[in-house]
Amino acid sequence: METTAKFIFDGKTFEMPIITGSEGEKAIDISKLRQETGFITYDPGFANTGACLSNITFMNGEKGILRYRGIPVEQLAEHSSFVETAYLLINGELPVRTQLQSFSVLLNDHSLVHEDMRHFFNNFPRRAHPMGILSSMVNALRAFYPEIPERSEEEEINMTVTRLLSKVRTMAAISYKISRGHKVVYPKQELSYAANFLNMMFDSPVRPYEIDPDLVKALNVFWILHADHEQNCSTAAVRLVGSARVNLYAAISAGICALWGPLHGGANQAVIEMLEAIQANGGDVNPFIARAKHKDDPFRLMGFGHRVYKTYDPRAKIMKEQCYKILEKLKIHDPLLDIAMKLEEAALKDSYFIDHYLYPNLDFYTGIVLRAIGIPLNMFTVMFAIGRLPGWISQWKESMEDPHWKLHRPRQVYTGLNQRDYIPIDQRG
Ligand code: ACO
Repeated sequence: METTAKFIFDGKTFEMPIITGSEGEKAIDISKLRQETGFITYDPGFANTGACLSNITFMNGEKGILRYRGIPVEQLAEHSSFVETAYLLINGELPVRTQLQSFSVLLNDHSLVHEDMRHFFNNFPRRAHPMGILSSMVNALRAFYPEIPERSEEEEINMTVTRLLSKVRTMAAISYKISRGHKVVYPKQELSYAANFLNMMFDSPVRPYEIDPDLVKALNVFWILHADHEQNCSTAAVRLVGSARVNLYAAISAGICALWGPLHGGANQAVIEMLEAIQANGGDVNPFIARAKHKDDPFRLMGFGHRVYKTYDPRAKIMKEQCYKILEKLKIHDPLLDIAMKLEEAALKDSYFIDHYLYPNLDFYTGIVLRAIGIPLNMFTVMFAIGRLPGWISQWKESMEDPHWKLHRPRQVYTGLNQRDYIPIDQRG
């Protein structure tokens, strides 16, 4: 097997090492390319660019495989909890019982949000999108919890990680309560991470919330499926912003901003909006399929397609099962599920979708599960952000510990005007 790749240009040959990953995927190490040849590479959207070596998450888009620290996501969704999966991602191994207990206690101890932060929550416009609020408030956490110089770097990182995992969930629930003009509900020591979130969202002085273990399970599965996805747009944003050595709150805030976009985490909200539009249009999926295929129409089937998966997204399969379970348990008939199924069936038979390898992605069914749990539409992407936190944190940590780490600074091929002289304003025209 060759260990180098050759680049031949102008009669000269340059050799570049081949890197092989633990699952056999291959990369050409071009880190000396410009220095030795004067060339850079051009790769819009970084579709062929490996920006790091990582041992956190493995995905194979052709076979539909997703594993965190080697463990298939199917097994984690069935047996694990979100807190345990977060521990696995951040620390590299599943916790033993005592480690899991102390991690859960730590998350509980740090779950309150500084009371002074409430002023900010109260003063956002009522219609502000919760993702905008969340990214601002996560960034503001640094002001409320500044670095303590006496702490070691490791202690400081552990504290920040705990605060983020614990407080982001509380902050999400607070922003929802305030947006409704309702009394804020505090986290309770005796409740698990997911149960606490549901209670903070839905408990009220006039209607106590009854925690349903099946909804807690569904929420755990939802968050586990979102927990990491290697170098996706928001994770790449966290790594890029983090490469400037900003504090972790700022890096995570950047990730939340990236996730907000409808081509990324915002797709779960966009899917429901699309299904509602189909419903309002009489329920016929065909005009929407036709629009998605039309070259001159920017419309896309939301919840379909993926940069890496060229087959059914393994997370979508698990989410679809959850969707049926929860609707059956709650005895809900959601007409949007019928439309989603019709849409999926029609798209999977259509040659355009087959030829473009467009299959349902995770977001296609998540919205229906979230609706059934009672999560309002504009909070969907916030739910994704809570789930993705362990991934962002573990990827940031890995990047900070990487001995080859560099400030992220891509290059460009300049295509603008060549040098010209400045013209004083009264001589222009
Ligand atoms: N509907 C219709 N056509 C599509 C769709 C879609 N959902 N997705 C891709 N295509 C077509 C494009 O029009 C293009 O066609 P062409 O080659 O004939 O011009 C081709 O497939 C490739 O599209 P790209 O945009 O180059 O593919 P890319 O890998 O960049 O896109 C993306 C991935 C952004 C997810 C895309 O599939 C999309 O926009 N999907 C809808 C939004 C969505 O569901 N996002 C969630 C992603 S998963 C997540 O964040 C959890």
